[in-house]
Amino acid sequence: MADVFRRVGIDKDYSTMDFSGVVEDVQGWESRHKVFETVFQDVRPKIVFEVGTWKGASVLHMDALSRKLGCDTLFVCVDTWLGSNDTLWIDTDFRKSLMLQHGYPTMFRQFIYNITKNGAVDRIFPLPMTSTCGAYLLKRLGLVADAIYVDAGHEEDEVATDLKLYYDVLRPGGVMFGDDYSSDWPGVVRAVNTFCQDHGLVLTSGAGKWRFQSPLKTVHPEPMPLEPILSEMP
Ligand SMILES: C[S@@+](CC[C@H](N)C(=O)[O-])C[C@H]1O[C@@H](n2cnc3c(N)ncnc32)[C@H](O)[C@@H]1O
Repeated sequence: MADVFRRVGIDKDYSTMDFSGVVEDVQGWESRHKVFETVFQDVRPKIVFEVGTWKGASVLHMDALSRKLGCDTLFVCVDTWLGSNDTLWIDTDFRKSLMLQHGYPTMFRQFIYNITKNGAVDRIFPLPMTSTCGAYLLKRLGLVADAIYVDAGHEEDEVATDLKLYYDVLRPGGVMFGDDYSSDWPGVVRAVNTFCQDHGLVLTSGAGKWRFQSPLKTVHPEPMPLEPILSEMP
């Protein structure tokens, strides 16, 4: 995995990163919900994609579970670290967490600080880009996950797009799960319900989380080529 990420310039050398003013803060949302342990027990994933990471609370919890259960998991975290259109920019406290400098978020530093402090840098690979961009890049890199946690944009069309694109990089028999399956987030509920109906998937939900398993027979397309694209660059 490290070699694959190095090919696109992500070497995870944070030795000169400016952490001034940053202290450990792993605030999240239902980031230690029991669904995480259930998924890790059932799937014992070697590769997990997390779509929507924020400060790293959920990925750090999954990392702790992986070590507890001896799963040896590597994680790819796809996030812009720019926040969402809803509460994260509007709510004053969440906006503080964005660490705006000249109106531009710098909270990626918070995430890196947290994963460094928790000794998880070697196992976590950040993809700092939109979920759409991340899905296509993962496909180009030929990476497929055993489990994917979806918790990025919460509008119906955002969730619908994430489900469609990330289902394509989920291995047959893998599990997709996510947050905010509740009346507070009707767009999440509608998108998840529609996707499961359209694909004949058995949806389970409880205490705000949703989950389904990809059928074992799903045939995923070949990875998109990376080399020809890179070689076309000047
Ligand atoms: C609810 S938070 C994730 C919380 C995290 N999973 C946890 O449990 O602590 C949503 C995150 O999704 C990111 N996000 C929102 N829309 C996105 C998009 N279209 N592409 C990538 N990241 C996005 C935001 O920057 C934010 O960090």
